[in-house]
Amino acid sequence: MNDIGLGIAGLGTVAQGVLQILSNNGAAIAQRSGCQLRVQRIASRSARDEVDMLGAQFSTNLQDLIEDPQVDIVLELIGGEDAAKDLIHNALLAGKPVVTANKAVIANHGDGLFAALQAANESSDLRFEAAVAGAIPIISAIREGLVANRFEHVVGIINGTCNYILTAMQNDGAQFSDALATAQELGYAEADPGFDIDGIDAAHKLTILLALAFDTHFDFSALHVEGITAVTAEDIRYAAELGYRIKHLGIARRSEDGLEARVHPALIPQQQLLANVDGVLNAVLVKSDAAGHTMFSGPGAGGAATASAVLADVVSVAASLRKPGADGGKRTAGAPDRAAEQVVLPISEAHSGHYLRIPSRDEPGVFARVAEALSRHEISIEAAIQKEPDAGQDVVSIVILTHTVQEAKVVAALEEVQDLPQVVGPVARIRVETLD
Ligand SMILES: NC(=O)c1ccc[n+]([C@@H]2O[C@H](COP(=O)([O-])OP(=O)(O)OC[C@H]3O[C@@H](n4cnc5c(N)ncnc54)[C@H](OP(=O)(O)O)[C@@H]3O)[C@@H](O)[C@H]2O)c1
Repeated sequence: MNDIGLGIAGLGTVAQGVLQILSNNGAAIAQRSGCQLRVQRIASRSARDEVDMLGAQFSTNLQDLIEDPQVDIVLELIGGEDAAKDLIHNALLAGKPVVTANKAVIANHGDGLFAALQAANESSDLRFEAAVAGAIPIISAIREGLVANRFEHVVGIINGTCNYILTAMQNDGAQFSDALATAQELGYAEADPGFDIDGIDAAHKLTILLALAFDTHFDFSALHVEGITAVTAEDIRYAAELGYRIKHLGIARRSEDGLEARVHPALIPQQQLLANVDGVLNAVLVKSDAAGHTMFSGPGAGGAATASAVLADVVSVAASLRKPGADGGKRTAGAPDRAAEQVVLPISEAHSGHYLRIPSRDEPGVFARVAEALSRHEISIEAAIQKEPDAGQDVVSIVILTHTVQEAKVVAALEEVQDLPQVVGPVARIRVETLD
């Protein structure tokens, strides 16, 4: 039995999940992996007397984790960016493998951390399965299970808060603000929900998926990012009438001209598996040349679910630590070669269908003028809905679904549509993804 000392940074939700799993399942993990995982040391800003630390030494100094020779693997579970980045960097350079659940630090500093890993000695490693889609083993699927494939697209529902809110709007007909308030009451959304509902959290995760599947740099700034605050109950109703559901997606896709990398709400066909992943669940759909379509679904957050992914990395690293000197291949798999530069296209060059909701006065010929404007920009209409106005109203919604078209053409056409005298409010636009 290989005795492996763990040094845990942080004593919050995920760290407590790790301690709980080790307490419940430590013996089974040892039997399966041949590694006895022992929590040697915990370092966090403040102690928590109520937490069973499984006999570990506690201090408030993160550096203690690096300096303690009995710590074989450092678990970075403090979150945030600067302190986490420094801890990971220093641990790697000291020759200690690091497991982290921190998407922000990998998305924004992944290149620098992998450079440190390359400069470090052979025993270092950097793993981050828990940083994307919680319990779902999507990182190991891309790096290992599907490694023989050329990826066509990786598309995911990767923010549970957004998925909970959109599902509630779908099921209850609720408006965004009411669904957000319910999510906050139930603990599915933070008091300050901006990181989730503005798409930043999903974009951190997509940055990681993009880098791993398409060999790009970890470049958060290359992504186009939109949240869900502009989605209305009306849009969800019209989408359903047209046979679609609205989900918040992270999309990384290879196109003829380069890579598309974008995070935004999208209509997807109701019959797609991804359209039926509801509530706080996450799911990632991967299309690759040999394996075809594969889909991974499960809890994207929560202490125990996230800790499950953290410990999967720990066991994998611990197993490789058993064979010093024979582990070069394993670690190289954790440090992708990004010699081949891949171009992430600007959003104006992305291709998708578009849902348009145009508030207009109920006058003859308006639909024809909208259709002419779209046609001038080579946009063809796949479906349309125009209903009679409600009693006493003279404003109607013209709803149009376009065929797939380059984004720049839609933007140009909508400038003309918006200027039509009959159009009385901002045109709503949501992209349509068929996921073929
Ligand atoms: N929670 C989830 O469901 C989930 C899911 C996927 C990924 N993650 C990721 O997992 C990581 C941890 O999340 P969490 O939910 O466990 O966070 P958390 O509950 O806020 O816990 C963070 C812990 O780290 C400590 N800490 C924070 N900054 C520190 C610093 N500079 N030095 C020392 N200790 C520090 C905190 O101490 P105090 O108690 O004194 O503040 C707390 O004990 C994050 O990167 C997060 O994005 C979380």
